[in-house]
Amino acid sequence: MRALVVGGGGREHALIRALARSPQHPELLCAPGNAGIAKDARILEVAAGDIEGLVGAARRERVNLVIVGPEVPLVAGLVDALSEAGIAAFGPNASAARLEGSKAFAKQAMLDAGVPTADWREVRSPQQAVKALDELSDEDGGVVVKADGLAAGKGVTVAEHREEAQDALSEIFAHGRFGSGASALLEERLIGEELSLLALCDGERAIPMAPARDYKRIFDGDLGPNTGGMGSYSPVAGVDERRVTEIVGCVHQPIVDLMRSRGTPFHGVLYAGLMLTATGPRVLEFNVRFGDPETQAVLPRLRSDLLALLEAAARPGGLDGVRLEWSSDWAVTVVLASAGYPASSSSGDVISGLEDVPAGIEVTHAGTASDGQRVFTAGGRVLNLTALGEDPLSARDSAYAAAQMISFDGMQLRADIAARAIEVSS
Ligand code: AMP
Ligand code: GLY
Repeated sequence: MRALVVGGGGREHALIRALARSPQHPELLCAPGNAGIAKDARILEVAAGDIEGLVGAARRERVNLVIVGPEVPLVAGLVDALSEAGIAAFGPNASAARLEGSKAFAKQAMLDAGVPTADWREVRSPQQAVKALDELSDEDGGVVVKADGLAAGKGVTVAEHREEAQDALSEIFAHGRFGSGASALLEERLIGEELSLLALCDGERAIPMAPARDYKRIFDGDLGPNTGGMGSYSPVAGVDERRVTEIVGCVHQPIVDLMRSRGTPFHGVLYAGLMLTATGPRVLEFNVRFGDPETQAVLPRLRSDLLALLEAAARPGGLDGVRLEWSSDWAVTVVLASAGYPASSSSGDVISGLEDVPAGIEVTHAGTASDGQRVFTAGGRVLNLTALGEDPLSARDSAYAAAQMISFDGMQLRADIAARAIEVSS
């Protein structure tokens, strides 16, 4: 069995580690990977966005299953191209990937499927925006502004007041930060705790994975700009199996049913970013792939054979009767980011201390490069440290003890990952 993972971040490294635990002992390939992944998989030098190159490589290498990590190749049709070439792939085709590729498409799908979400308006001009602001802002003037299309988690502004919303709108319309002809979504601001709930989908049904929480802002206390994610933990207090089943029943399954009825069945991971509001869970966004860094905290807890699950999800109805087994341990993932992130990132800073991290800590690489001897930063998010423990406190303490071993110039990390879990459990 030969599996190719597409991508080169912490999520892909975590996928590779979990696939390596499969009793099928697959041979693992990764394109393009990073310095850490190179130790666990054979690297193919093909960019994650190079559809033709990836199909060619998968064919040449006689790959049995391609597992697509990032959203960009999914939205660009990698899975369509692979299936035309007769190569099995885990992930949605381009039509189904629109659930992430276009926020307006996702909102309409939620409306059609009866999935609870924030009230919204799509606006194509500053004039339309004024009217929508009047309709959606709460009493403090709070509202959420989102650029449509893929923006790597950076296209969202949760505005506390009207001026902030107007600044975000002029970034989109006047300054063209997200491209000309861009449209925006204005959304009612939801209040509550966030939850990431991912489900494996086989075109017919959605099987939930363990719940997780991630930390999107750069600074402690959820301050500063949004990032790709600065840490995560799993499971989540108060979100037990019954609650998970309820949420999947009113969020993921209706979307899977809708996509199937439209003739664009959803295969892969459907990731719902949810706000648990006083009136019930509401969807903030859908992603059509594993979350980063949720995957780094979720997969080390998975007891089932990930490879068998991903193969099954690629087949229509393949997950029939499948149940996932989880360890009762808690997992906490702390992200180490480079100087300047998220506005920019710093490459070439030497990383020291990797060899001092205790065994049992899962070190997954995100943005790293190596000259054969030393390892360097090569991106915004650099490393993920995941620790398991019987309770959130012990997992958190182990993750932070490991983080202290590592250093590089300008290293950034949040000190409050899983603090909420500890508060709730104590
Ligand atoms: P998104 O990329 O749509 O998930 O948004 C990124 C982050 O912005 C989310 O994780 C939330 O923290 C926040 N956010 C997005 N939409 C809303 C909303 N309607 N109300 C409150 N916060 C939101
Ligand atoms: N953790 C957020 C994301 O993967 O989009």
